[in-house]
Amino acid sequence: MRKPFIAGNWKMNLASKAAAELAGRLLAKVSDFEGIEVAVAPTATSLAAVIEVLRGSPIEVAAQNCYWEESGAFTGELSTEMIKEIGCSHVIIGHSERRQFFAETDETVNKKLQAAYRAGLMPIVCIGESLGHRESGRTMEVVAGQLKGALKDISVEQMQQLTVAYEPIWAIGTGKTATPDQAQEVHAFLRGQLMEMFGQNVADVVRIQYGGSVKPSNAKELMDKPDIDGALVGGASLKADDFIGILGYRN
Ligand code: PGA
Repeated sequence: MRKPFIAGNWKMNLASKAAAELAGRLLAKVSDFEGIEVAVAPTATSLAAVIEVLRGSPIEVAAQNCYWEESGAFTGELSTEMIKEIGCSHVIIGHSERRQFFAETDETVNKKLQAAYRAGLMPIVCIGESLGHRESGRTMEVVAGQLKGALKDISVEQMQQLTVAYEPIWAIGTGKTATPDQAQEVHAFLRGQLMEMFGQNVADVVRIQYGGSVKPSNAKELMDKPDIDGALVGGASLKADDFIGILGYRN
């Protein structure tokens, strides 16, 4: 069985003080959610403060992005080695906002993924179709292409550490959630793709998170679907009560 994995993506919100406060509120409750893996992804300048609060706790910390070179003249970038050294266990790669606003492609996602493995970070790789893709019936073609591009040259062993986040772009930050059936359909398809690419074992163990307007009121119906193994939560992860409500979806 795949352990549910719920991660909060704080995006460009919560400077150190507010981020540490929120981390502290989650820490106070985390023992209520045994059996669920929990991570938060603060903005880069808040990583140190959040890691300090969560040190030794079961809540994991992810960076929201990384660069693929180890060091050098790449102004403004963070290497995976730096992210690992500060104390992150995970890194989010290829979020649709990175693709949309910062020109990331399947090729750069793959380079970042290789760099995450080089540093010993566990990657959360984001894929998802736009509204235009969905309306023109291209969803499966698009997500399959993103998955193949992202996972080029990744080994079966490396896949054991990887999480896929399926986030339909039209559902991110819009309040429009994919229906549980719509999400399940894509998750099942993606698991089939993983099976074709890497075999049954990888298809069985890789967790596929759903992302896009997940909130306490819809978390359970999404997570009850057989191929939805967790969530990548944006807006609702910024409020302790909402994120705790999502973590408690089974209660
Ligand atoms: P949202 O964002 O929950 O605010 O829709 C999800 C994400 O972008 O990861």
